[in-house]
Amino acid sequence: MAKAKIRRVAINTGGGDAPGLNAVIRAATVAAINRGWECVGIRDGYNGLFLPDKYPQGGLITLTRERVHGITHLGGTILGTTNRGNPLKYPTMGPDGTMYEKDRSDELIRAFEAEHIDALIAVGGDGSLNIASVLARKGLRVVGVPKTIDNDLEKTVITFGFDTAVHFATSCLDRLYSTAEAHRRVMVVEVMGRYAGWIAVECGISGGAHVILIPEIPYDIQKIASKIRERDRNGHHFAIVVVAEGAKPVGGETSVVSTGLGRADRLGGAGERIANDIEEVTGKETRCVVLGHLLRGGSPTSFDRLLSLRFGAAAIRALEAGKSNVMVALDPPTVRYVPLEEATRRMKTVPLDCDIMLTARDLGIGFGD
Ligand code: F6P
Repeated sequence: MAKAKIRRVAINTGGGDAPGLNAVIRAATVAAINRGWECVGIRDGYNGLFLPDKYPQGGLITLTRERVHGITHLGGTILGTTNRGNPLKYPTMGPDGTMYEKDRSDELIRAFEAEHIDALIAVGGDGSLNIASVLARKGLRVVGVPKTIDNDLEKTVITFGFDTAVHFATSCLDRLYSTAEAHRRVMVVEVMGRYAGWIAVECGISGGAHVILIPEIPYDIQKIASKIRERDRNGHHFAIVVVAEGAKPVGGETSVVSTGLGRADRLGGAGERIANDIEEVTGKETRCVVLGHLLRGGSPTSFDRLLSLRFGAAAIRALEAGKSNVMVALDPPTVRYVPLEEATRRMKTVPLDCDIMLTARDLGIGFGD
């Protein structure tokens, strides 16, 4: 079906921020302007368009060459982002005063039409890309760009932001190693990643962790304790334990801080829980460090900068080629386009038989199993 010519394209960034967002915005904007298209950014996910009253200064930002100049290396996002108020599950009060989740996607489509936006580049993780896919099925031309430090999206070898997070976490492990050894302590390091263990596994192996706990492998505290005791017997009186925030004990639950309508569960506390258990079972002094949002901040690595620039430019090429409801994906040595539904159908977790895991096992790293 022939589609109308693109004159105005919008970009938004949704969900938790990740280093590289600004590089995507820059590449997409410059590539759009070079084709004679007007480019706007939507503030805070879809909110700038959807909740205009919240933005007296305007919910849209005109993206010019000047506006995106010199932002490739900056963390965060010049558009703002949010992981609340999903328009497909908008927290709404019912007539009896109880709250429920309402699908407001039709209103959102009308808001795009009112702003004469012909196409959207949606930069986000599974939640944002799922919204984008629904909008595409309702007629909006949409290309998704995969973002998340968690690297838990299917159909792309890697998401941007992940490399920066792993790089930073590894440098933290380097620092913790020496203080753990000096004090003969167990240092537990909690990293983000939601229900996938990618960050934990990759920084743990690179940073010399002795135990890595991931959501994919429920752990047994006795197995962790024997690993620590074995190190003691071999004259190594300290240990580094990396814990993914989604890790859980055999037969136990993920440590969730809070839940709420229209937003994802907030995870936290896994590190503290395991640190207490290790101290109790082994009698060794154990401390916990939560890296948390430090993994999301700062300047993207050169890998993430380049990947983000490639993704942003590729998204514009996809729109120019008439594609919609697709996501840009890395399939080395190139980028390709995959249906958005396929990318968001299920979470990409760490395969237990992949060579990264086999490498860890060969190095003698324990997984609490
Ligand atoms: O998905 C990215 C991520 O950083 C997860 O690793 C983490 O669980 C979550 O976002 C934290 O979100 P928030 O910033 O809302 O606490």
